[in-house]
Amino acid sequence: MCPVCNGKACGNTIPGPGAKGVGDVAIRNYDKWKEVRVNMDVIGEIGEPSTETELFGYKLALPLLAGPVGAVKMHYGDRYTDEEYNQRLIKGCIDSKIVALTGDGTDPLVMESACQVIKSVSGHGIPTVKPWDINTLKEKIALVKASGAKAFAMDIDAAGLPFLKGRIPPAGRKTVDQLKEIVDLAGLPFIVKGIMTPDSALRAVSAGASAIVVSNHGGRVLDQCPSTCEVLEEIVQAVEGKCKVLVDGGLRDGLDIFKAIAMGADAVLMARPFVNAIYQNESEGVLMLVERLTGELKDAMTMCGASDIKEIKRSMVRF
Ligand SMILES: Cc1cc2nc3c(=O)[nH]c(=O)nc-3n(C[C@H](O)[C@H](O)[C@H](O)COP(=O)(O)O)c2cc1C
Repeated sequence: MCPVCNGKACGNTIPGPGAKGVGDVAIRNYDKWKEVRVNMDVIGEIGEPSTETELFGYKLALPLLAGPVGAVKMHYGDRYTDEEYNQRLIKGCIDSKIVALTGDGTDPLVMESACQVIKSVSGHGIPTVKPWDINTLKEKIALVKASGAKAFAMDIDAAGLPFLKGRIPPAGRKTVDQLKEIVDLAGLPFIVKGIMTPDSALRAVSAGASAIVVSNHGGRVLDQCPSTCEVLEEIVQAVEGKCKVLVDGGLRDGLDIFKAIAMGADAVLMARPFVNAIYQNESEGVLMLVERLTGELKDAMTMCGASDIKEIKRSMVRF
């Protein structure tokens, strides 16, 4: 495993954990969070900071969700099936009081097994579905509903994945009306993952999305886009609180979570760090990762003067 998951070693390796094209978007995601600095302010009393929050009816120990990773055999070799990976991920997330999004892939088993695992823990997980054609989506939404999940997501940007090109069933762009149909079919809070512009965010809101994820899929769907850190604030401003705003891409420590919240995100997703944690140390690895992140977030809150998540303010960071 790399000491820091910053996109450098995996470069443009897909299949594998890398990014598309020249492969620099994952690197930029990581680097841009590091350009945001936190403003230390230790005068005035605050108690032991609380990192707790709530999202889609899930109580979270901190504003963090494990990001979806699908088709793990294709990307990481034979060690785990998707079912085995998700079992470890979801157990680790339950133990650490956060929630995981699960992934989807060209093999229907990827999402079927994810929904089975979520069902086995009474809905403690959020399935993510690829932007398939409506008939395939109807089948997948039935799986989501049966899983008992309290919300579901679509990585609407997945059409750009090299290994989804020209496949049957097809996956591709969605209109606002198609998204509305999906929201109606599922009857659950809908998270649109893969938003990189204010206009796109507003279209997701008008389709009835309960949340968006500012995400470029870790650089895997379009080469040479900006990092998510660079576009987060303009998107937060555009949606004006009409939906929850989540963000992923290169966030790697509790300070990065602090920065994203200060810039207006409601919570963050981390994907590759959970893969590394599980391949190193099974579900215990998830617990260790979340413990470290919580400690780092609490430390940042203490040193910058926030006693709970709502008190983390824009004035606490600078570029
Ligand atoms: C191997 C791999 C598989 C992924 N599979 C999915 C998926 O099935 N669905 C999805 O929405 N995102 C998927 N992603 C994207 C991640 O959820 C996330 O958006 C991206 O990796 C950026 O976050 P990170 O920098 O913390 O890894 C995948 C990423 C990787 C590296």
